[in-house]
This record gives sequence, C-alpha cells and structure tokens, in this order.
Amino acid sequence: MPKRHLITCALPYANGPIHIGHLAGCFLPSDIHYRYLKMKGEDVLFVCGTDEHGVPITLKAKNEHKTPQEVVDENHTRISQSLYAFGIHFDQFSRTTNSLHHKTAQDFFKTLYQQGVFEEKTAEQLYDEESQQFLADRYIIGTCPTCSYENAYGDQCEQCGRTSNPLELIHPKSALTGNTPVRKETKNWYLPLDQIQKDFLNDWVATKKNTWKSSVFGQCNSWLTDGLKPRAMTRDLDWGVPVPIEGVSHKVMYVWFDAPIGYITATKEAVGEDWTTWWKDPETEIIHFLGKDNIVFHTIIFPAMLYAHGGYNLPTHVPANEFLNLEGDKISTSRNHAIWLHEYLIDFPEKTDELRYVLNSILPETKDADFTWRDFQAKINNELVAILGNFVNRVLVLTHKYYAGAVPQGHIAEDLPNFSEKITQALDQFNQRQGLEAYMEIARYGNKYLQDTAPWKLMKDDSSHQKVADCMVTCLQIVHTLGQYGQVFLPQTAQKILHLLQLTSYQENLISGHSIGEPILLFEKIDDNDILHQISKLEVVEDTEPEQDKEVALTKPFKPMIQYDDFTKLDIRIATIIAAEKVKKADRLLQITLDVGSEKRTVVSGIAEHFSAEEIIGRQVTYLANLAPRTLKGIESNGMILMAEDETGKLRFLSPDEKISAGSLVS
Ligand code: MF3
Ligand code: ZN
Repeated sequence: MPKRHLITCALPYANGPIHIGHLAGCFLPSDIHYRYLKMKGEDVLFVCGTDEHGVPITLKAKNEHKTPQEVVDENHTRISQSLYAFGIHFDQFSRTTNSLHHKTAQDFFKTLYQQGVFEEKTAEQLYDEESQQFLADRYIIGTCPTCSYENAYGDQCEQCGRTSNPLELIHPKSALTGNTPVRKETKNWYLPLDQIQKDFLNDWVATKKNTWKSSVFGQCNSWLTDGLKPRAMTRDLDWGVPVPIEGVSHKVMYVWFDAPIGYITATKEAVGEDWTTWWKDPETEIIHFLGKDNIVFHTIIFPAMLYAHGGYNLPTHVPANEFLNLEGDKISTSRNHAIWLHEYLIDFPEKTDELRYVLNSILPETKDADFTWRDFQAKINNELVAILGNFVNRVLVLTHKYYAGAVPQGHIAEDLPNFSEKITQALDQFNQRQGLEAYMEIARYGNKYLQDTAPWKLMKDDSSHQKVADCMVTCLQIVHTLGQYGQVFLPQTAQKILHLLQLTSYQENLISGHSIGEPILLFEKIDDNDILHQISKLEVVEDTEPEQDKEVALTKPFKPMIQYDDFTKLDIRIATIIAAEKVKKADRLLQITLDVGSEKRTVVSGIAEHFSAEEIIGRQVTYLANLAPRTLKGIESNGMILMAEDETGKLRFLSPDEKISAGSLVS
C-alpha cells in the first residue's frame, strides 16, 4: 500500500456550468474514492480547479460582449458552488488563470525548452483572414479524408475516430466565419511524442496492462500502435499562458499543456512547499479521475511531459469513466439536453444525496449509462425511502418505544455479516457501483433481520425481553455501520445519522444507556408531478444541431454542401395557424393546428417559452410538410414549423412579407 494518495479530478472547462454528465464522469467517482481513503485514515490530497484557457472561452466572451476573464470568473464561481453543494469538497479547487499557475506552467515549459526537448517548427496552418487568426483545430470543419464524414473537426473525426492534421481535411471551413481559410506559416514548439514513445511510453504503458482498466489500457495502446506524432504545445492566440521564450509574443501554451499542470498548481496552493512530497516522493501514488475523452491526455501526453521534465511521479491509476446519456440521448449543452447542477439544486433543494445515489448506481464504469427521470424516481422511492430510510426510521422508533430512546443492554448478533469486506474490495478496484450495492445490502439485511426477529412479537412474552434488547442493539449497530459507510456514498445522510445517534464521530461506538435522537425520515418520496415537470423541461426543440460542446464554436458552422436534388426533397409551404393551445405537463410545447390549404394538420412545436398560444393564432408561417410524423406527449406531430434562432436562443417565425394563400409552395 502506498503511503500517500494524490487524487486529481479533470479540471472542468470554465466556459459554462456543469451537468450530471460531469458529476458521473469524474466528480463523483473521485469524491467517493477520496472519502473512502479518508475514512480508512489514509494520507490523501484531493485537487481540482477550473480549466480557464482555450478558444471556446474567447468566443463565448465575444458573443456575450464580455472579457474572457469575466466569463471564467462567473463560471468558476458557479461551478464551485454547485460542487460544494453536492458535498464535493476538494482540498484545493484552483484556477488556471491564477498567477501561481501561470508561473508554474511557465517554469515547466522553460525547463523543457532549456533541455532542448521541443522541436521548433515553422509550418503552414489554416488562417481565417476575416477574423485575423490562426484557427484552432476545433474551429475547422471539413470532410474527413478517411470516412468522408462531412462535419469532421480539424483534429478529430467524430464518425470514424481518426485524429488528423487539419490540413488534410477536404473543403475546410472556418467555424468562426464560414470562410475557407488560407494557409499561412507560423512557428510553434512541438513535443516530440514520436521520440518519447520510443524512449519511454511504449515500455511504461506496457507495465500498466494489469493495473489499468481494459478500456483505458486499450485506448492508450491503440494510440501507441498507430504511432504518435509530434504535437504543437504552443498556439497563436492571446488568451492562455504566454509562451516564456524571449522575443515571442502573441503565442500561448496549448491549453492541454497548461491544464494538467493545474493539478500541480493546486497542490502548491494546498500545501505550499510540501508540494513535492505529493509529486516527487515515490511513496505517493497519483490517481487521475476523468471521462473517456480525456484518456489520451492523461495516459500519454501529460506523462510524456512529466517524463521529459524529469523528477516527477507518473500516474498509478487512471480510472476513466465512459459517458452518461440522458433519457436515451447524448447529453448536449447546445440543445440544452442536460440536467444542470445549479438548476437541479433549485428544483430539488437539499436532495443532493439522492442524485449522488442514483448516479452512483449507474456510473458509466464499463460502458455508457443512461439517466432517466423515471429511474431517478424509482430508485429514490423504492430504495432510499423504502429500504434505507425505512430501516433507520423503524429502528429509531422501536428504540424509543421500548427503551425511551436509550441504547439497551444486549449483545450484537454473532452471525452479523462482515459488511465492510465487500465494500472495501469493490472500492479498492474502483468498482463504485458494486460498492454502493454492497452498501445497500446492509440496509436490506437490516430490514430482513428486523422483520424475521420481529421484536414486536417477542415483546409480548416476558421471557424474551433479552432477545428484544439483543435485536435492537444489533439493529442500532447496523444503523451505525450505515452511517459510517454513508460517509463515502451519501455524505449528507451520514451527517443526519450521526445526529440521530447523537454521536460526534463514527469513531465513537454506541454504548448501552446512550440516548439517541428523535426519529426522522431520511428521505421523502418523489412524486409524479416533479418528474413530469423535469421530463417536460427536456422536451426537444424541433430542430437539432450537431453537438457543440466544449471546444466547439459557439457561432454555428455552416453545414456541409448538398445537391439541388437533396433540397427538392423538402416540401416547404406556407401555412396559417388556426388554433393553438399549451400541451399539458410540457412547459415548452404548443399544439398547433395549421391550415395547409388542402387540409388541416396538427403540429407540436417547442416554442411555448417564446410565444403564447393566443398571440400566434392567425399568423402565417413556413412549414416543412413532409417530415415523418413524431409523437410528443401522446400527440402526433405532422411536419414542422420552421423558425429562425439567433445565438441567444431568440426565436422568430418565417412569415411571408404579405399574405399569401395557405399551402403556397416555398422553393
Ligand atoms: N477541461 C478538460 C475537459 O473538460 C479537462 C482538463 S483535465 C486536465 O475535458 F488535466 F487538463 F486538467
Ligand atoms: Zn472520419
């Protein structure tokens, strides 16, 4: 067992708030592991922070007429508040715009530079003349040279997974302006990953075959099999950590170079001088928690940087998770198909353990998982309320009834299973779903034990009173264990149980005569209305854009070219709205009746937050008549009303400039 554990959680981008996908991907797993090691009394440090550089932040700032600093300030605050509320309390939650971070990253860079690690290369890159900047990989969209997918990003094709040089894209377009970029020369500093692969990565990664999850090892290995290429560690930009080389200006570090150094910065902020113990002492192990899109950066690029620098420990574990979907669909921030933590906290105040529980039970440990509101409701009602909350409540009620709330004198059942073993085994292997199952088994066992022993029957017989006392002592011990392990899985509940037991810490044992508190209900049922409300919040707005998360432009890129034939397939007409009403239990939806000339059609449209039913009656609109029907909230929707949407989400109808007969063709 190593002496110390440094736990890192991937730094969230400060270009927006965080959602349940972030929680399930890495915040929750890292927090569970931290709490687990803490409970065992290990020496552990838990660091994170916000990733505040990168192009998306500059674009967001531009769109919102703010400075990048203002954007990251707001998001840092909101993200840290959400995390805090969910019980995720890092030893340090830093920021990559902190001056200590700039200094740390610059020192790191300088060391590599002075050791001659970087290759200095002048190369052509794509430059957008209108916006006067070199285009970051994610801002170039074009056709993938391998699979011909038309919306491939400069650096990666989401269809075939190919990573490429943006210059290889066919028909590249700037996502900033839609223009075709030009090639222009610029000098940058490259990390020679090809060389580092030969010198170090191949051998080092091979040693991880049995310690890393197969998905992590597999992904990492496939990068190595493909062969690594030198990667530029600098960018032509003004937002980021300035490149610390004499005479170089308007260049910053690649955001993926400075961000992981954020872990080091946060450590320095947490423990000062002592930071080297956590990064350089071989008795410390580093555990990186992250989502699967970050694997290559933590198993290849950051280790390569650390190796090239020298003197640092390399990560022991990289327990990456897969993705969390929502109601069967990919989480999408652009389509607002997400559950934002700050909104959840308003809609379900205090119910943080409930969400932790549900996410913990479906963590995407080995494959993508799906969150649904119905499952959320079922797990809370049938498990937290009916099993855990119910058991604790019954034990407290009975203790008050039979013993006026004092722990009786009795013996803990001898055959009480060793609950901790299963939990520990699972958590040591990062099997946190299994860990939670083992935890709930304690409550299940408790309920069954209480039911089978039935102290209420024994109570009727004077000679069985000792059995009742033994039963209650056993049950109270189970409650104690539930509280103790609750510290790992359900921190808020663990606090409540501690309070119920009137103890100051779980180190303390329950001794006979000790008074416990009044029974309370630990959880309450979630009713249908709450769930229906949440589901309706997710109702999709009719048209959907490709995923625009993270490093992707906020200005919508142009879609790939189509042929005239493709266009003629669309049957677009003018229609008149003759009736409209709100769809029940769906905040966003209006049911609209259209006069399309020859007949009437029903359309369900996600515009109720923008227009009232009354104000749109009589209006002429543009209507896509031959879209296959869809059923929303039990209503069949035929075709789609076309809307214009600006970058702030404002919606407008496309109406003819003068009245024209309903059914007129648009072409
Ligand atoms: N900001 C990145 C993301 O959200 C993660 C950065 S992890 C770090 O995908 F190691 F670079 F910090
Ligand atoms: Zn492709």
